[in-house]
Formats: sequence, structure tokens, C-alpha cells
Amino acid sequence: MANQTNTADERRLIRIFDTTLRDGEQSPGNSMNIEEKLRVAKQLERLNVDVIEAGFPIASEGDFEAVKRIAQALKTPQIAGLCRASEKDIDRAWEALQYAGERARIHTFIATSDIHMKYKLQMEPAKVLAAAVKAVKHACRYTPNVEFSCEDAVRTRLPFLGEMVEAAINAGATTINIPDTVGYTTPFEFFNIIKYLKDNVSNIDRAVISVHCHNDLGLSVANSIFAVQAGAGQVECTINGIGERAGNCSLEEFVMVLRTRHDILPYYTNVATEQLMPSSRLLSTITGIMVQPNKAVVGANAFAHESGIHQHGMMMESSTYEIMTPESVGLTAGTLVLGKHSGRHAFKKRLEELGHELDDEMMNRAFGRFKALADLKKEVFDEDLDALVADESREEEKFKLVLLNVSCGSLSVATATVKMEIDGQVSRAAELGDGPVDATLRAIRKLTKTKAKLEHFHVGSITGGTDALGEVTMRVSDGKHIVVGKGSSTDIVEASAKAFVHALNRLSSRQKRLNESL
Ligand code: KIV
Ligand code: ZN
Repeated sequence: MANQTNTADERRLIRIFDTTLRDGEQSPGNSMNIEEKLRVAKQLERLNVDVIEAGFPIASEGDFEAVKRIAQALKTPQIAGLCRASEKDIDRAWEALQYAGERARIHTFIATSDIHMKYKLQMEPAKVLAAAVKAVKHACRYTPNVEFSCEDAVRTRLPFLGEMVEAAINAGATTINIPDTVGYTTPFEFFNIIKYLKDNVSNIDRAVISVHCHNDLGLSVANSIFAVQAGAGQVECTINGIGERAGNCSLEEFVMVLRTRHDILPYYTNVATEQLMPSSRLLSTITGIMVQPNKAVVGANAFAHESGIHQHGMMMESSTYEIMTPESVGLTAGTLVLGKHSGRHAFKKRLEELGHELDDEMMNRAFGRFKALADLKKEVFDEDLDALVADESREEEKFKLVLLNVSCGSLSVATATVKMEIDGQVSRAAELGDGPVDATLRAIRKLTKTKAKLEHFHVGSITGGTDALGEVTMRVSDGKHIVVGKGSSTDIVEASAKAFVHALNRLSSRQKRLNESL
């Protein structure tokens, strides 16, 4: 039970460094194109995170362009770009970051654990230390805002970690990041690592200690909290906890732990928590990857009370079973927002509230689709709008579905006729299949000549009722990449066709970006 409430003055600010667009985007199925990254970045600005790591500029042309566009477009957060401890990487990162002016941060890293130095870098510790110092000094020529990370810090010998940190601070780094790169540590061990640095590194007070925890053992949020208690002042995290392997520390969970338990945790963040749900949903809409229903804070069931006893308690007094309010995380799901009499202004305003910014052309198309949907469905919910926008805001479409006609029934073989525009050329194919979806996908395969494999197929309904939008999610692989495609329609065969075409477009733009970066 709460025994003490801390006032704002006694509390210490913990800076939130969001790496959704870098570490998060690196993970399978989460890749985004430049426009999509820009939309996420703008939402992160509304969420009021302190730093956005926008990408790894030397990794590809696409990454470079995304960092540059984000640096140009955003007004308030600091913008970071990742680079190895190499002058070439740093120069390239700065080319993109310079547009953020005083808000630009160079984030350079090198591995410091014996295992990484020996097998990955094949460098002696003294050389690693020298490379780090050289990189930090080089970065400081561009900006005083330099972050240095000791990759695999948790498995680094503590005296060497201390030496690295001290040298990086002397070279000019103002933020020192201690990553648990492989998600190996436990809360108390991590507390002691941060405490060791606080107690043994002579110049540690000249830098902010940051932590960057991966979630391989499901401990990333707990480890980050313990690190803060030991003195860390920045936490690196991602929306929905996406990231390499099991992901990174989930931003929404970390932030809500601090907010909900301010009675025993004397810290605060600048995050506008009512923007958590819109941020989570925007990311899911863009990547096609939904969070699991029981996910803390942003899962569909996070505020659902099923048992009779709980429902009764909630009716008497919500604090009986609710430790944070749905409103505090921006939950408005299920709220009836629009209907067929709603006008363009209300539609645009609601989309903006949900974090969707569309240009005029996209807005026109989306409004047309909204009107058609509102004719079919009496009630249009936020979830319907997310799906509608996801369908509408896809750029670089090599493949476009123009028309679909299906005939099927219990006594006939399913036949699908599909008309598509491919690189501006319209063509048509008809195929038989084992059911309408199979026939449709066969026809699309024939037209696009794709060899991509369908690995997972899921049909769900976005809201309730027989008139609900059906949403199809597909995981499709070309052997090198896995992408998620999504499509929605009141007709699930059409939704399936859209999802497959969406996935093929994503594969094609991934391939294009890969070619550009070679
Ligand atoms: O996990 C990690 O070590 C990283 C660093 C590059 C910060 O992502
Ligand atoms: Zn990482």
C-alpha cells in the first residue's frame, strides 16, 4: 500500500530515449518506409519523448533519408542517429542529423565484452578503448551532444567497463549508455553494475547514465527500473516493446510504472501518457503487428474486467481493481466516434487525434472510403478508422488491386477474377481454387509472378456485429525477409486480397531499399 507521496520537486527527471525507429525497426516484420517512420516520429513528438533515435544513417539510403527527414520535420525532441565507432559512420550520421541543429545527438558505440571483442571485433581491449575515444572526439567536432554505448556492457568485466566509461567521458561524451544487449541481466545485478559505475568512475557526474535493456528473459522493464534506482537518468525503450529478438524495454510499461508508483519511486518522465494508446495503435497499424491482448498498459484486455466479482467492485468504486485509469493512457477504444452524417471536418479531426496525419490527396480518398463504410456500418469506431487509414496510406505501391470478382458456393468450385495494375500496366487473371480466398490468392500470384510464401493467415473482426470490418493479417516471406500485410473490408475475401497485395508491396520495397544500400 502507498505510504509516501513524492512531490514533483523531490522527484528526479528520467529522460526517455525512444528507439522504436532504430532498434525496433530492425526486428522482423517491423520495417517501415520513410513516410511511415515520419508518421511514427511525429506521434513520438506528441508523446513528448526527450530523444528519438531515428535510425542508423550509414546502414542504407532509406535509413539516411529517414533520419534526415525526421531531423528536418520535428520541432521539439532531440534526434539521435546511431553509428559505429568509425569516422565514416559518424560523418554520414552528421550529414543527416545536422538538420536538427542544436537538437542533434550523435550516438556512437563499440562492443566491450570479452566475447564480443574476441569473436566479433577481433580487437584487443586497448584498441577498443582507443577506437572509442577517437570516435567520441570525432563526434564532438560536430556537436557537444554525444552519446557513447558500450555494447554488451552487462557481460563486460567491470573494471574494463569503468575504464571505457571514464575514457569516453574524458573524450567528451555527455551520455553514457549501458546496454544489456542480449537481455541477460537481472534487476539486482544490473542495479549493482550502475552503482559500481557511480561509485568508481571519477568523472561519472559529468555524464547522464543511460540504460538500454533487451527483453530476452522478460526482465527489461524491471532491469530499467532498478537501474534508475541506482542512478541512471535516461532509459532507452520502444513503443509496444518492439525490437531485436524478444524486443526492448517497453516505453508504455516503464513510463506507467513510474507514474503509477510515484509513491515509492521518486522519479518522473516528460511523457504525455494520454498519447500512449494512440502511439501503440499507430505503430500496430503501420507494421501490421498487433500487441497481445493481455499486454500491460496497451493490450486490448488491459482495462477489461471479466469476472462478476471484479465488475461489481468496479461499479462500486473503480480503484478496487483499477490501479491506473484508461483515460490516463489515452484509451478511448470502443467509443462511437463517427457515423454516416459526420462531415469531413469531424473525420479529419478524429484522425489527427488518433495520430494519423494524411496529405490532401490521401485525406480525400480516405474520406470517400469512410463514407462508403458508414453506409454499410451504422457505427464507425476508432479501430475502423485505423484500419481504413492503414489501407489508404501506403506509398510506393508497385502492385494495385483494381477489381475482384468471386463466385463460390457449396455446389460450385470457387473462381476468382482479379484485375491488377502492376507498374502502371493493367492485367487480369482468373483462377479456380479450394475456396474463394485460395482462388483469389492464386490469381494474384499469377499476375504478380511472386514466389513468396504465405506463412501465417489470420482473419479477425475489427469491431462487433455482422457488419463489422473484417481484418486479415498475413505473414509473407520471400526467403530473405518476412513482412506483415494487412487488409480490411466488410468482405473478408477482398480483405484477404488486399492483405496479400500489401505484403507483396512491402516485400518489393524492402528489396528495393536493400538494392539501394548495396
Ligand atoms: O542492444 C544494444 O547494445 C544496442 C546498442 C547499439 C545501443 O542496440
Ligand atoms: Zn539494442
